[in-house]
Amino acid sequence: MRESRIMRGFQAIVLAAGLGTRMRSKLPKVIHEICGKPMIDLVLDALEAAGAERAFVVVGHLAELVESVVGSRAQCVLQAEQKGTGHAVMQVRDVLSGYDGTVVVAAGDAAYLRESDLRALVNHHQKTDARATVLTAILEDPSGYGRVAREASGRIRRIVEDEDCSPEEALICEVNSSVYCFERRDLFDALSRITPDNVQGEYYLTDVIEIMIQDGLRVEAVISEDPLTAQGINTRVQLAEAEKVFRDRIREHLMLSGVTIVDPQTTFVDFDVVIGQDTKILPFSIIQGKTIIGKNCTIGPFTRIIDSKVSSGATISNAVVTEAEVGEDVCIGPYAYLRSGTVLAERAKVGTFVEVKKSTVGKGSKVSHQAYVGDATVGEGVNIGAGTITCNYDGHSKHPTIISDGAFVGSNANLVAPVKIGKRAYVAAGSTITQDVPDGALGIARGRQKNIDGWAEKRFKERRKSGSQEDSGGT
Ligand code: UD1
Ligand code: CA
Repeated sequence: MRESRIMRGFQAIVLAAGLGTRMRSKLPKVIHEICGKPMIDLVLDALEAAGAERAFVVVGHLAELVESVVGSRAQCVLQAEQKGTGHAVMQVRDVLSGYDGTVVVAAGDAAYLRESDLRALVNHHQKTDARATVLTAILEDPSGYGRVAREASGRIRRIVEDEDCSPEEALICEVNSSVYCFERRDLFDALSRITPDNVQGEYYLTDVIEIMIQDGLRVEAVISEDPLTAQGINTRVQLAEAEKVFRDRIREHLMLSGVTIVDPQTTFVDFDVVIGQDTKILPFSIIQGKTIIGKNCTIGPFTRIIDSKVSSGATISNAVVTEAEVGEDVCIGPYAYLRSGTVLAERAKVGTFVEVKKSTVGKGSKVSHQAYVGDATVGEGVNIGAGTITCNYDGHSKHPTIISDGAFVGSNANLVAPVKIGKRAYVAAGSTITQDVPDGALGIARGRQKNIDGWAEKRFKERRKSGSQEDSGGT
């Protein structure tokens, strides 16, 4: 099917009221995510891309939760009791009563739905002046899906649900994708006549097809070239299959746009992630949420980045980066943890076994080894020695630490917040700093060292006298 311009506009109804029993989840099926995106968003994306003027989502199970995911993208309509897909569409009758035109109906679990299939569906429907058009696909194993029964002439006759199939009907490989095009008036007229007279005791939307045909209305079927189009997501096995299909597409798109992915099979990237040209992703990396990565970065191996912004030229290895902002040419890891609210300015370095939380680290500053920086503002050109800890928590609340430009914090210092280290000030290694250190000063807070001459010899003699084995190699 070729994508083309749609003749007339259309509005859309997405069915999302069911719990999705086969998912065995407490959450509604349509909010389960595929590559970081709720299933329902995938369906709404396709509808919007194909030019839907307006969308309605039928909600029921945990309606508020689904509504919060849908947000302002569509108007939600409540189906208080889930009595079937036909009954679900009926709930939209009143809000659509002022509209006369084409209505696309899609199941909220039709995650594979593509813009191109939708355009082909609407075009065919409008070109042939049909009153209903069903999007179908041919499956090798059609079990579980509604079958498309056709006349000997090839014209569609009806859709039979899996549970209601005769043994002959069960052999039909053309299935209903649960994406349809209708004319509003004919749809609700036929819906008012469906009955729950079937194995599942539900009002099937699929029954309107036969009713319209019996009314002598023109009904069409469009076969998608892509068998996936017909597949809903009913189980977590199908959810994982969809995840795999979309991950492949995302990776392929990134690679074709100029990103090197060394091992696609161990690289996982969510839908909304943006990655710049000539960035290289090393194996076992997971890039999630609304992350944006610039050009010429090296990410991984073994790195997870969530909802973060990484500027060009950054290197991040064996790290977990969450809701952080990473400046140009920053170097992170190996083995670093950047938590929410971390901002690293250009050329900063956060090295091995360093954790940074809700802190800003200025241009060119270095936190190279084993440190914790929390609720801190670190200026430019600062050096924070190995083992330094900002003691930001007193058991009740969090307090800030300020480390000014050019300061040097010696190894293993404890900076007890709230505290400020002045410009170009020094903190002596091993100090526990509880008071501000003025600009240019040395803060030293540790026991003064004393050397006791001859101590070792003296001890040895004493031990020998008392017969102790301790210093003679015994255990
Ligand atoms: C449906 C079709 C089937 C098709 C298959 C394709 C019917 C009767 N059957 O079957 O022909 O091959 O999709 O995936 O339509 N929903 C509601 N309210 C309800 C019931 C369902 O909103 O009362 C919603 C569900 O939340 C779901 C969608 O409708 O998003 C489809 O329901 P589902 O139970 O998955 O239908 P299938 O049995 O898969
Ligand atoms: Ca389904």
